[in-house]
Amino acid sequence: MSTDHLNIEVMLHPVPERLTPSTPTPYVNSMEQYQKLYKESITHPTLFWGKLAKDMLHWHKPFETVVSGGFLEGDVTWFAEGELNATYNCVDRHAKENPDKIAIIYEADEPDQSRYISYGVLLRDVCRLANTLKSLGLKKGDTVAIYLPMVPEAVVAFLACARLGIIHSVVFAGFSAEALRDRIQDASSRLVITADEGRRGGKTIHTKKIVDTAVKECPTVEHVLVFRRTGSEIPFKAPYDLWWHEELEKHRPYCVPEVMNSEDPLFLLYTSGSTGKPKGILHTTAGYLLGAAATFKYVFDYHPNDIFGCMADIGWITGHTYIVYGPLCNGATTVLFESTPVYPTPSRYWQIVDKHKITQFYTAPTAIRLLRRHGREHVEGYDLSSLRVIGTVGEPINPEAWEWYYEVVGKKKCAIVDTYWQTETGAAIISPLPGAIPTKPGSATLPFFGIEPVVLDPITGQELKSNNVEGVLAVKKPWPSLARTIYNNHHRYLDTYLSQYKGYYFTGDSVGRDKDGYYWIRGRVDDVINVAGHRLSTAEIESALITHESVAEAAVIGVKDDLTTNAIHAFTTLKPRFADTTDEKDLILQVRKVIGPFAAPKKIYIVNDLPKTRSGKIMRRILRKISEKEEDQLGDLSTLSDPSIIPTLIEKVRNS
Ligand code: PRX
Repeated sequence: MSTDHLNIEVMLHPVPERLTPSTPTPYVNSMEQYQKLYKESITHPTLFWGKLAKDMLHWHKPFETVVSGGFLEGDVTWFAEGELNATYNCVDRHAKENPDKIAIIYEADEPDQSRYISYGVLLRDVCRLANTLKSLGLKKGDTVAIYLPMVPEAVVAFLACARLGIIHSVVFAGFSAEALRDRIQDASSRLVITADEGRRGGKTIHTKKIVDTAVKECPTVEHVLVFRRTGSEIPFKAPYDLWWHEELEKHRPYCVPEVMNSEDPLFLLYTSGSTGKPKGILHTTAGYLLGAAATFKYVFDYHPNDIFGCMADIGWITGHTYIVYGPLCNGATTVLFESTPVYPTPSRYWQIVDKHKITQFYTAPTAIRLLRRHGREHVEGYDLSSLRVIGTVGEPINPEAWEWYYEVVGKKKCAIVDTYWQTETGAAIISPLPGAIPTKPGSATLPFFGIEPVVLDPITGQELKSNNVEGVLAVKKPWPSLARTIYNNHHRYLDTYLSQYKGYYFTGDSVGRDKDGYYWIRGRVDDVINVAGHRLSTAEIESALITHESVAEAAVIGVKDDLTTNAIHAFTTLKPRFADTTDEKDLILQVRKVIGPFAAPKKIYIVNDLPKTRSGKIMRRILRKISEKEEDQLGDLSTLSDPSIIPTLIEKVRNS
């Protein structure tokens, strides 16, 4: 594979100077210190993680074995024998020490409706909800679905579950009723926690109605607990439906936390894979919490008076780790943002930074690209001098967007952390450390402590040990926050992550390692596509389309897009009797209905035939080239069963 492009000289951005004398000194203060600590973490992982786990977490009973098992068998455990409670770690210990410290700043959809929730109040609310859950008969090991907008009660719901050892399964509130139903069914959730309605970007989302449709086919659900967000009239069927405010009022504000084993499940989070069926990624208590807490502290260089602003949604892993568990485990103040970067104006992010004096700001490259298009005038006029670290996650960031973030937002004084990780890894695994690692725009730079990334030859699976190589990204040894299994499907876990390259965890991403050992994430090598930081599976969208009565066949591809990394394009053929009565709009609606609005294809082409091999396999590579208007690079067409359909497809795309 050619590595020429790795040799272009990329501007190396030095670690920023400390801003003022009162700026805290970064925990890791030089490249030498990073390298020394990194080396220790790799050569003595047991010592390294053992010490970190003792220092960062509160244990009801200490662990004895730091790690056992491995990738060959897929039976990894961390901190066995140890007992702890995630909520105790995230709330109680801070509430005891500093009850008035603000835990959550809620920045509501409308800019004038902020709320501030202290650790003391958070503890009481979490306990009231935990007691409510107990009174409903829920217990350790049960599963609860959380389908809530970005309100503080969502955080309360996470933590009340964790307090009792109930496994929470948060479903992003942009998913449709059908997608929610599938996730409730797969996890056999006994309760759904939701809201009457949601508000986002000035629009109303009919959350409870979506839940009503979903639970019609979910016999395991015994109740729906409804938080009143807007107060509008909604369909409500007591005693199946329960009001959050009425139930919580009945219960005491203290509940003893359940003592959990390190390896007891903490939560499930569904994510897309190569097949149509989403996977319930399962994270366990101690390992996940330690990964979240440690990366939060070091990657964002969190210090006690900082205000941390992660703009993600709690429905995705970024929200779990860097809005909820990472910040709260460190006793930090975390911002919960309900709106969008452009509501009511494209200055919203910077208004929030100014208003709350945010010190670390974290968002997706798509948002940066969007705001860059709106122009720097929307950033000017706001005091962003509180910022020290600005981060990105979810997609590769292109150098233009990086530079804009660095100059216009960070005023060339902030460290940019381009954090690479996944739902499965639980926490960042490749990322700069703000005070130590010089950055290169577009590179996630170097591994976090204890993570040993490897570049493998995709065909032979051999480790490419030198620098200046391209291949697929895997990790050599277990680390605490890696997901342990796929809920009820350990076989699929082994198949997807541990079997392809024996002895390694396979990320599904391709990667380059440059002459300085820096990592450059190139994108997925499987059928997963990244649209505006949302992870989607082409197979999942295809199965949504196929379930439409008119569709005969569907092929979905991710096409390069300047704003959203990939855009979804779909090619479909129709059953003859529906050919005159179905149009593209019907098919877009179908995807919105089955998955959710965020998965709707940007383009749908209804065609007479799809390019297939003689054995009937759809050649998506050819469709991608046609969609990207690279018809001159279609390659070898001789394996197609009918090459004559290609000009018609090209014409269709050209004329659309
Ligand atoms: O392809 C990589 C991309 O997002 C995928 C993981 O998606 P998800 O599980 O939804 O988690 C996203 C938030 C952690 C990865 O396999 N990805 C994530 N971060 C980066 C990235 N691609 C490039 N650069 C990143 N910093």
